[in-house]
Amino acid sequence: MRIPRKMEHVHHALNLGQSGEQGFSDIKPVPNCLPESSTRLISLQTIIGGLNLSSPIIINAMTGGAHETEEINRDLAIAARETGLAMAVGSQMAAIKNPEVASSYRVVREMNPNGFVFGNLGSEAAVEQAERAVEMLRADALQIHLNVMQELIMPEGDRDFQGMLERIRLIQEHLRVPLIVKEVGFGMTRESISLLCQAGVRVIDVGGSGGTNFAAIENARRTSPMDWLNEWGCTTAVSLIEATNALAASIGKGTPAAMSLIGSGGIQGTMEACKALALGASAVGMAGAFLRTLRSNGREALIQQIERMHEELRLVMTAMGAQTIAELWQHPLVITGQTAEWCSARGIS
Ligand code: FNR
Repeated sequence: MRIPRKMEHVHHALNLGQSGEQGFSDIKPVPNCLPESSTRLISLQTIIGGLNLSSPIIINAMTGGAHETEEINRDLAIAARETGLAMAVGSQMAAIKNPEVASSYRVVREMNPNGFVFGNLGSEAAVEQAERAVEMLRADALQIHLNVMQELIMPEGDRDFQGMLERIRLIQEHLRVPLIVKEVGFGMTRESISLLCQAGVRVIDVGGSGGTNFAAIENARRTSPMDWLNEWGCTTAVSLIEATNALAASIGKGTPAAMSLIGSGGIQGTMEACKALALGASAVGMAGAFLRTLRSNGREALIQQIERMHEELRLVMTAMGAQTIAELWQHPLVITGQTAEWCSARGIS
């Protein structure tokens, strides 16, 4: 029997790993040897689309829609419950089209009845499908993913991308829970971010390159790979800088109160998470790194990894003299290397 596509994605994501070129080695927080702080004073709380989260780490969208994915979603949901993390499921379109597979997503809500659960659909979704996706999970928010390059490399993928922004605008207008628009690892620039803001979107997950690479994953599934597309996109560091630049241009410096950014793509540890937050993100999304721990070392190891990250974030924030995530945004950063070159070529100071 053919392995379902959802499990092929899991296997290829683990086999191919992450390049680690998400741009964070170009971002250096300026050290502060007199931080006037204490680990006791650090708060990891954050707000995304009006939701008060106890942790700035989110388990990002991965899976659902096939039997084996139910087990993965169950373990991820238990880890999310035990550590207080918000968690997104993978695209629910499979369950919208075939309700028989809905249990592989619903398990996330069943395991974590009181936690923050985010639904997920592609930008082909209509308002009514978005509402059904939310209902399926009693979701606290819905992610709409943008993945044009992935679709184009997938032989069975979409070829027509007209009307995406208008469908997003309609979902934003009608949905009764916050909408998060996310990339899946090709990044976003200020032009697209400005268009999303104009369409009313208030939460953006920039999903930059340097982590799980969906061009490489789809190429690994093709009989005639187009590997020359594996470098497509812009890094997570660049995407966050582009995003804060787009928002600052319209509403002043820093992330405006009504707007939240999520930094994702290649976040594997505390320092990358901390740098993404310092670049203006309210939260970070992690997918591939958590999947790897779960599949290699099991659920308890994943819970320990998340707890360790919380502890380490408190340590680094203490050293930086930032007691809250919002204070991290004010921390001075030096930007070097290719990220600095990109900023200069794009006129971002
Ligand atoms: C994903 N991702 C994803 N995203 C999405 O919006 N809907 C989806 O169905 C999936 N499916 C999926 C499957 C697997 C196996 C992985 C590893 C990832 C993308 C994910 O949410 C994230 O945007 C990227 O993986 C980049 O983050 P990392 O993996 O570099 O932390």
